[in-house]
Amino acid sequence: MNVALGVGGGIAAYKAAELARALMERGFTVEVVMTRAAEEFIRPLTFAALTGRKVHTHLFSAASAEDTLASAIEHIRVAQENQLLVVAPATADLLAKFTHGLADDLLTTTYLAFTGTVVLAPAMNTNMWNHPASQTNMQVLRGRGHVVVEPGEGLLACGMIGPGRLAEPDQIADAVLAASKTKKPRRDLDGETILITAGPTQEPIDGVRYLSNRSSGKMGYALAEEAVARGARVTLISGPVNLPAPLGATLVPVRTALEMRQAVMDRLSEATIVVKAAAVADYHIPNPSKQKMKKTAARLSLDLEPTPDILAELGAKKGDRLLIGFAAETDNMVEEARRKLQQKNCDMVVGNVVSHVVSHVASQQGTGFESDENEVVLVTRAGETIPVARASKRAIAGRIFDEAMRLRLALHASR
Ligand code: PMT
Repeated sequence: MNVALGVGGGIAAYKAAELARALMERGFTVEVVMTRAAEEFIRPLTFAALTGRKVHTHLFSAASAEDTLASAIEHIRVAQENQLLVVAPATADLLAKFTHGLADDLLTTTYLAFTGTVVLAPAMNTNMWNHPASQTNMQVLRGRGHVVVEPGEGLLACGMIGPGRLAEPDQIADAVLAASKTKKPRRDLDGETILITAGPTQEPIDGVRYLSNRSSGKMGYALAEEAVARGARVTLISGPVNLPAPLGATLVPVRTALEMRQAVMDRLSEATIVVKAAAVADYHIPNPSKQKMKKTAARLSLDLEPTPDILAELGAKKGDRLLIGFAAETDNMVEEARRKLQQKNCDMVVGNVVSHVVSHVASQQGTGFESDENEVVLVTRAGETIPVARASKRAIAGRIFDEAMRLRLALHASR
């Protein structure tokens, strides 16, 4: 496995040489990236001799004009070819730059381009480590799922006694080894607050009867589970279903379309993404009797009124939020999904063909309502039509959020 070892400019930089050796002893191939400040403390030659590889120091270090392009994209190559990025010593300056996404040298640009596991071994003066700015930065970096090898306590180079000393190289190398064996969860929805609706609504006819549909809630609950796993704060507004509440999501149970509308609007201001997977009744009886209606021999007609279209109302108030609607269709699915996208001002509509076969045997199950699987087409505001092959509802949820994140970037870039 390949490790990029980022060396920051602190007195502990000399220990990074021992760390490079400790990593190689554990079977890693090590590629060193040094900051300019690190070079004040230790020479690149030391690392080159230890690792047998070129040591990277500058963002633009081309020896000739032909090398210029290769040099300019070196950070991308380093980020792509290494599975782990270990930064030791991670100085206060580097931690602040990582936190805020500053990218003014090879190590900080590599950090931004890197998508693998990051291990940070901070080292600095005790007061710098204890400063609220450093501690806030550490909170952000831990929140991104980075592994932090805590600094030790003891006599520091500055003469102070306290926390801030770089952890021992063997300790850091062991943490890297452990991190390399742990599958890294994707946290790309960190910082998002996602409002998801799921399930059917029930519209009372009288005290014991209601109008409803076959939605089981499985699609909406799968979206909630996926969003929580990827780091989002999730509120799940659900019609009546027989599913356990997804761990980590806030569940708001509702019954009718009117209740669902109210629950959504009450929480809209905090949402950055709204996903409307619920199958909301289009009609209801405005003032249903609380008593059970008596059966008579005469024909019975129900006087139904349209329910409020929650998605259309969200479209009118959407602002910068991503708004994702669903379309359950038996025919002309893509055309209908695109029509709903425009009519309701959505960023994406997930069209699913609702077929009628429902069976407990997976291979005989239909898609859409009630089944464990779905097959969808994503139509987007950017004009794309993206078919997603039949898969579990959780896997479909994953694709919906992948495409939503990509779409947000594309929409921002086009503004
Ligand atoms: O719950 P499952 O059994 O897992 O099934 C999943 C599902 C088939 C229910 C789901 O994938 C789905 O397609 N949900 C939307 C079903 C639907 O009501 O489609 P629609 O075409 O009637 O509505 C279009 C959109 O408007 C939907 O996002 C719906 O939530 C929204 N809507 C509809 C009516 C209304 N009064 N208010 C709304 O917000």
